[in-house]
Amino acid sequence: MSTTLNNLSVTRTSDSKLNQVDWENLPFGRVFSDHMLVMDYKDGAWQAPAILPFQNLQLHPATSAIHYGQSIFEGLKAYKNQNDEVVIFRPQSNAKRFRESCLRMCMPELPEELFLDCVAALVGVDSNWIPSQPGYSLYIRPFLFATDDFIGIKPSESYKFMIFTCPVGAYYSQPLRVKIEERYTRAAEGGVGRAKTAGNYAASLYPAKLGNKEGYHQLVWTDAKEHKYVEESGTMNIVFVKNGKIITPSEESDTILPGITKRSVLELAAHFGIPFEERKIEVTEIIDGIKDGSITDAFGAGTAATIAPIQTIGFRGQDYELPSLETREISSKIHATLDGIKAGTHSDVFNWIYKVI
Ligand code: PLP
Ligand code: COI
Repeated sequence: MSTTLNNLSVTRTSDSKLNQVDWENLPFGRVFSDHMLVMDYKDGAWQAPAILPFQNLQLHPATSAIHYGQSIFEGLKAYKNQNDEVVIFRPQSNAKRFRESCLRMCMPELPEELFLDCVAALVGVDSNWIPSQPGYSLYIRPFLFATDDFIGIKPSESYKFMIFTCPVGAYYSQPLRVKIEERYTRAAEGGVGRAKTAGNYAASLYPAKLGNKEGYHQLVWTDAKEHKYVEESGTMNIVFVKNGKIITPSEESDTILPGITKRSVLELAAHFGIPFEERKIEVTEIIDGIKDGSITDAFGAGTAATIAPIQTIGFRGQDYELPSLETREISSKIHATLDGIKAGTHSDVFNWIYKVI
């Protein structure tokens, strides 16, 4: 396992919260495991990482991340598989995306192996926190933020990398109602939409709130220039099935988060011989396809969301209903295979599973 962490210190809590957890009732992101990892960046170098009891931070009021948003994060999940092994799904891809987010946000690149070793070390220490019920997992949240106490605009010289984990159940508990957003924009070309940076989520809150008021769980973002092409949803990439073929917006522009779940869906599609296309998709293609029955499935793909079936798409004041969930063979097969790979009941054909213990 750990190759770069010979300087890691571990201080274990003397006050574990483990037996206070209501395992039958785990709201997403509200229950925190016993430990966290902290690693500072200063004087041009990553300092020694430390695993500490989970605790609050003390911050200078001028901490630059708070003012100017140099802040990035990742989301990945650990599972206890059927052999009681502790495994993480594709963490190498998160390590790569994290490093790319660092670059875009002018933050020091975290070496991918160091990211991986830090994640594995923390999950190893809190492995008792991984729920074992089907559909549950340990959500891992690595993040990096600027810590200079300086209010001028420039890249910070000091940063804090941290990881904490949360035992979680489903992010969405029901099929989704989503609304095609034509007024507000998540990301424009040349912007930071491809990076997993905090401000992208802050910018989405107001339009999402308006969508919620109209009865939608999520928005489907469209391109900033013409609002003509589908991009992604708030917490997940978006995938459709048209005439038996998977279609999903391509990541060629820098406005879409390159999702690891969506990539896995496409790789499984290739494995099963299901045709797929990554390309520009016009909103009208989706609406017309629902009307004429050629679009038979729509779902979100994301780490928190997993494979989240979309039931209704709202567009210009009208709701368009997709076929019932029982008819959705392609997404059901892919979802079941992904779950099986994580649980160890399906062979890990692509080597996606990273074993911690
Ligand atoms: N798009 C956005 C905006 C997200 O927040 C996420 C979640 O991480 C995704 C897509 C899906 O990415 P992944 O499958 O890597 O979790
Ligand atoms: C994830 O799926 O990991 C996300 O980051 C989505 C959301 C919880 C912000």
